Amino acid sequence: MSTIQETTITSLEEARDFVDTIAKDLDPTSTFIKDIYHLIDTVCDIHKLEFELDKNGGNKIGTRGKFFAGDDVWQRLTLSEKLLANLVTNETSGRRFSNNDKQALYEYFVDLPEGSKAVSALSAPCSKGQEAYWLASLLYDTLPNTDIIVDGYDISSGCISTAKKGKYPTKNFLGHATLQIDSDIKKIVTFEVKNILVSPIEKKYTLISCRNFLGYLAEEQARKLLDTLCKSLLHPGAIQLDTFAVDNKFLWISDYLLSKGLIRSTGSTLYIHK
Ligand SMILES: C[S@@+](CC[C@H](N)C(=O)[O-])C[C@H]1O[C@@H](n2cnc3c(N)ncnc32)[C@H](O)[C@@H]1O
Repeated sequence: MSTIQETTITSLEEARDFVDTIAKDLDPTSTFIKDIYHLIDTVCDIHKLEFELDKNGGNKIGTRGKFFAGDDVWQRLTLSEKLLANLVTNETSGRRFSNNDKQALYEYFVDLPEGSKAVSALSAPCSKGQEAYWLASLLYDTLPNTDIIVDGYDISSGCISTAKKGKYPTKNFLGHATLQIDSDIKKIVTFEVKNILVSPIEKKYTLISCRNFLGYLAEEQARKLLDTLCKSLLHPGAIQLDTFAVDNKFLWISDYLLSKGLIRSTGSTLYIHK
C-alpha cells in the first residue's frame, strides 16, 4: 500500500477521490472536509488547486494547512499531503499541556513504582515533535536515574523531518530566534512516519499521549484507535488525551477507558491504571 506521500494526484477527480478516502475515517460533519471539496469544485485544474493551497492566507479555507504546518514543513509536502494537512491540521505548540495535565503527569511519573528502571512514552500523532520533546524533558527532570525512551509518530513525512531536526523558530527578547532542543533530550527521542489508524504499534509504553487528533475522527475510528492505544500500554501505564475529545466530542471515552482499567485523574485528561 502506498503512503500518503507517495500518492500521486494528477487531476481534480483524483484529488476528490483522495479526499473521499481520507474523509471515510474522519468526522462526517467536519467543516474542514466541506471546505476542501468546495475548493476543489471552484478551481479549474490541479495546478490552480496547489496554487491556492500554497497561498499565505492564514487559518482559512484552503490555506489553513500551510498556516499550521509552517513554511519549513510545507515546502516538503506533496499535493496529497497538502490536502491531508487541510483536513487534519498540523497545529501544535511547545505549550501543549494545561497546568492540571502537567501536574497530573508529574505526579504520575514520580509515583511510578521504585525500581522502574526504564520508562517509555509515545506522542502519537506528534506533528512537528514539540510534544514528544516536552514529555522527554519532563521525564528527564523527574526521573533522573531512569532509562527514558520517547517515540513520536505522525503520518506527515514533512512534520517528521522537522521533528528530527529539533530546531524551532521562536521569538524572545532579542527578536526572532531559533530554539534548539538540548542534545541530552534529543538523543532519547525517536521519530517515525506512521499512519496510526492502519499500522500496528509494536512497542509498549508507560505513557501514551494522543492529543488533538481523536476529535477529528469518525466515532468508529476513535474507538478503534483507543483500543489500539490501550493494547500498547504497559502496566502501570497512562493515556493522556485532550479536553475537546473527552469533554466535548466523545463523552463515552471515560467509561470506555474505565472498562479497560484506566481512571481519569482529577482536573486533567490523564487516564491512569487503577
Ligand atoms: C492537530 S495535530 C496534533 C499534534 C499533537 N498531538 C499536538 O497536540 O500538538 C494532528 C496531527 O495528526 C497527524 N495525522 C493525521 N492523520 C494521521 C494518521 N492517520 N496517523 C498519524 N498521524 C496522523 C497530522 O499529520 C497532524 O500532525
